Amino acid sequence: MAIQKVGVVGCGLMGSGIAQVSAQAGFSTTVSEVSREALEKGMGAIRGFLQGGLDKGKVTAQDMEATLARLSGTTRLEDLAACDLVIEATTENIALKQTVFSTLDRACGPATVLASNTSSLSITELSTFTQRPDRFLGLHFFNPVPLMKLVEVVRTLATSDETYRLAADWCRAIGKTVVTVGDTPGFVVNRLLMPYMLEP
Ligand SMILES: NC(=O)c1ccc[n+]([C@@H]2O[C@H](COP(=O)([O-])OP(=O)(O)OC[C@H]3O[C@@H](n4cnc5c(N)ncnc54)[C@H](O)[C@@H]3O)[C@@H](O)[C@H]2O)c1
Repeated sequence: MAIQKVGVVGCGLMGSGIAQVSAQAGFSTTVSEVSREALEKGMGAIRGFLQGGLDKGKVTAQDMEATLARLSGTTRLEDLAACDLVIEATTENIALKQTVFSTLDRACGPATVLASNTSSLSITELSTFTQRPDRFLGLHFFNPVPLMKLVEVVRTLATSDETYRLAADWCRAIGKTVVTVGDTPGFVVNRLLMPYMLEP
């Protein structure tokens, strides 16, 4: 099995970037938001980013058109049910993420891999909101997602080798560099960055 259909929950700063790079790399991608207005704002950000690339000659008109054709939006989490991988990029609030993951867990097929882009919450704790901790991991992107190459792939003790392989292969397929990290506060990058920034 390989990832073919991708879902992204939240089309804010990070979710819009993740949906964009997924669609740009050729994956059919559906992004979910709380309202039509939020969805339109996020899709507008994606169109704006692609238009900027077109103006600078970094994206062709055909690439832009094909990327947008692979992207769809919804306000119903259940519409992500047929995705092979769903990446959650909602507001950093554990109660909200609990609702999102328990809904996704009920809606998605047993093979779907669920991932969170959280920067500060425990991936292990988030995985307990589902019945599939073996098919759960963190995919921590950096802002701005289309430009930042690194993705921290966060394995918990329960993440299966197959789940890790599928997610890491997908990250490479969208042109990212993978660093595998354990489920520790700040993962690796923020754990190094924070003390550095606090240095007088
Ligand atoms: N901002 C960063 O630099 C950065 C970097 C890495 C990871 N993260 C993580 O990414 C996640 C999102 O951060 P952001 O900066 O993109 O936030 P954001 O506020 O820009 O976007 C969050 C989006 O989630 C949407 N949302 C809320 N509830 C939802 C629901 N039930 N269903 C669908 N959409 C919903 C909101 O409407 C909003 O558009 C957080 O977990 C954060 O820790 C952020």
